Amino acid sequence: MKDAFSIKGLDGARKLSGTIPVNGSKNAALPALALPFLFSDTVILENVPVLEDIHRVEELLASLGVSCKKQKRRYELMAHAARQTVLSPDIAKRLRASILFTGPILARFGSVSFPHPGGCVIGERPIDLFLEGFKKMGARVDEKNGMYHLRAPKTGLRGAEIFFRTQSVTAAETFLMAAVLAHGKTILQNVPVEPEIGALISFLNRCGASISGAETHRLEIIGGKPLRARGAAYTIIPDRIETGSFLILAALAGKKITISHCEPEHAGAVIEHLRASGADIAVGKNMITVTAPKGKRSSFYKSIPLKTHEYPGFATDLQAPMTVFLTQSEGEALVFETIFEGRLGYVHELIRMGAKIQDMGPHRVYIQGRAPLRGRKLESPDLRAGLAFIIAALVAKGDSVVHNAYSIDRGYEHIEKRLQKIGASIKRISS
Ligand code: EPU
Repeated sequence: MKDAFSIKGLDGARKLSGTIPVNGSKNAALPALALPFLFSDTVILENVPVLEDIHRVEELLASLGVSCKKQKRRYELMAHAARQTVLSPDIAKRLRASILFTGPILARFGSVSFPHPGGCVIGERPIDLFLEGFKKMGARVDEKNGMYHLRAPKTGLRGAEIFFRTQSVTAAETFLMAAVLAHGKTILQNVPVEPEIGALISFLNRCGASISGAETHRLEIIGGKPLRARGAAYTIIPDRIETGSFLILAALAGKKITISHCEPEHAGAVIEHLRASGADIAVGKNMITVTAPKGKRSSFYKSIPLKTHEYPGFATDLQAPMTVFLTQSEGEALVFETIFEGRLGYVHELIRMGAKIQDMGPHRVYIQGRAPLRGRKLESPDLRAGLAFIIAALVAKGDSVVHNAYSIDRGYEHIEKRLQKIGASIKRISS
């Protein structure tokens, strides 16, 4: 039996109201869980979200011998007894983010083995930047029986100059962590500036690392030896993708919704896109309120073009929910997904719901709005498209079932309970 979500649509009515708090960021927590390898003492993490992806990483940590004391959202991690350097293929293949562990393990223990990491069905997801970077730091890379085997020189990884041909978030985080233990200076160029990277750097620097260039595209790291946290805790920043997803849902189906415990600055692109379409958004210190537009004529939003971009541009992880928004806006819109080549496959399900969308190749779709949606049985292909289906189902006329709840649980904690609190009719069922 697998879980699914059963949803009653609002037929376009803007009825949801109340406050929805944002949890800790999945994509900040995942690299944070790889930190214990860089420390000689205990690393404390706070505000870790309760997610399936995080559970998979906990299993990975246990298989690697990292001790983990957990109290709900607080983790105490210690790699003192860890010696295992093989990432379990069963876990690593389920989770692209497992690649984040390669750098810290290789830098600490001198070797690491791992399969080609898995993840969601959003594109090819190569690891060439990782393999090239490790070679530059002196590692030998062998591939045998579907596993990569990396070995550092006897004296350990050495600092290197690495220019990323493509801006990659997890590659930047992996090499940043590896460079903290490597001997000498590492220069990373064309580094993305996603807030999750900045948060990681600022915790490492607090614990004695020497990393300069935070929030720029060039990082300089002087490495050498394990760090000591000395009781410092890393509080995971609010999830900007959750924030953006709730903003889009609020604009489409909300009467008045406040998104609390968030960092509005990290949601700048989505706020400005929604405002340009006509949404009424008020930004406070750690909260954002969306109020339904008044009057009949102005009650429909205006279409705008959408192009995904590295931060601070419009996040690819919000492209699917925003596409749903554009199906409900008046006018025509081109959606251009620039980061991943497989991240528009889900639109066929929206078309079955009544959306007017033309497929224009792997990177583009053309939307004619506004087209009312009808409830359907849907299969979530990945967490972000899955959340977009929940939004589409809430906007639609009639009932929907979104299958493969696991894919959504990977990135959104108890989504049904949180949406019920703002009045959504959604429940978890076994299918
Ligand atoms: N790329 C390469 N070679 C590599 C690595 C990446 O060509 O060796 C390319 C990718 O194919 C892609 C581009 O670089 O075209 C950017 O991908 P990136 O490596 O930045 O993605 P990622 O680090 O694997 C993180 C997030 C993703 C998010 C992307 C883009 C984590 C754990 N994951 O992935 O989040 O979509 O950055 O912002 O931080 C999600 O949460 O749903 C998710 C997929």
